[in-house]
Amino acid sequence: MANVASAPLLQVDAITMIFGGIVAIDNLSLDVKQGQILALMGPNGAGKTTTFHVIAGVHKPTLGCILFQGQDITALRPDARCRAGVARTFQITQPFEQLSVAENIMVGARPYHSSMAELRKASEAYAHKVGLGDKLNTLAKGLSTGQRKRLELARAMATRPKLLLMDEVTGGVDMKSIPGLIDLVKTLRADGLTIVLIEHNMRVINELADEAVFMNRGARMVSGTPHEVATNPAVVELYLGESADHGH
Ligand SMILES: Nc1ncnc2c1ncn2[C@@H]1O[C@H](COP(=O)(O)OP(=O)(O)OP(=O)(O)O)[C@@H](O)[C@H]1O
Ligand SMILES: [Mg+2]
Repeated sequence: MANVASAPLLQVDAITMIFGGIVAIDNLSLDVKQGQILALMGPNGAGKTTTFHVIAGVHKPTLGCILFQGQDITALRPDARCRAGVARTFQITQPFEQLSVAENIMVGARPYHSSMAELRKASEAYAHKVGLGDKLNTLAKGLSTGQRKRLELARAMATRPKLLLMDEVTGGVDMKSIPGLIDLVKTLRADGLTIVLIEHNMRVINELADEAVFMNRGARMVSGTPHEVATNPAVVELYLGESADHGH
C-alpha cells in the first residue's frame, strides 16, 4: 500500500448498491479527510442513508469498496467496523426505550470498561458532554426529539469512533434546539472527530461543513463548498421542485 498516513480517513470507492431492480447508489465515490466535516445532501430517496448503511457495514455493496485508514473494510461486519472506529447515529432514533439515558450510553461504552463503576462514570461523562447531564435517570422514552438525538450522539461517542456518520441529526428537532446541536457538533470536531453528516438544513450545513456533496438518484450530482452547492442552479431547481411537492 502506498502512503497510508496521507490517505483519506474514509474512501468510498465506486460504490453501487442495487436492491432488486432499484439502483439506490450509482457508482458513488467519496473521500473524507481526517478532521473534515462533509455534508451529504440530496432529495428524499437520493441514497444518502443507504450510503451510511454501506459505510457502516449493514449492506454489502453490489459493486465497489470501502477503505478506512487505507484498509479495505468492505468484508467486515458492522461490529468489526465499529471497533475499527466507525460510528453512526440513526435518522430515526432507536434508543432502548425502557432504559435510562445513562444505561443507553453504557451499552456503547461497555467494551472499554472492566468495572461497573467505571462504566457508569464514563457514560455519565458522555451524557454531560451532550447536555443530558440532568437526565441521567430519565427513561429514553421520556425524551424529546432533540434530547433523543443528543442521546444518539452520546451512545455513538461512547464507542470512541474516529469517524462519525450522523443521519439528519437536526431532523424533526424544533428550531430553537438547532443552534445547541450545531455547537455540540463543533465541540466533537474540536475533539478531533471526522464527521459525515446527512442534512437538509442549509443553515446547519453552512455552519458546519467544509465540503458538501449533493446526491441525486444514487449518484453525485454536484459537490464543492456548501455555498457552491446551495447556489448551483440544478440543486436550486431540485430543491424548489421538492418544496413545491412536499414542503421541504
Ligand atoms: N433495503 C432496501 N430495499 C429496497 N430498497 C431500498 C432499501 N433501502 C433503500 N432502498 C431504496 O433506495 C433508495 C434510496 O433510499 P435512501 O433511504 O438511501 O434515501 P435517502 O437519501 O436517505 O432519503 P431520505 O432523505 O428520505 O432519508 C430509495 O429508493 C429507497 O426506497
Ligand atoms: Mg435517509
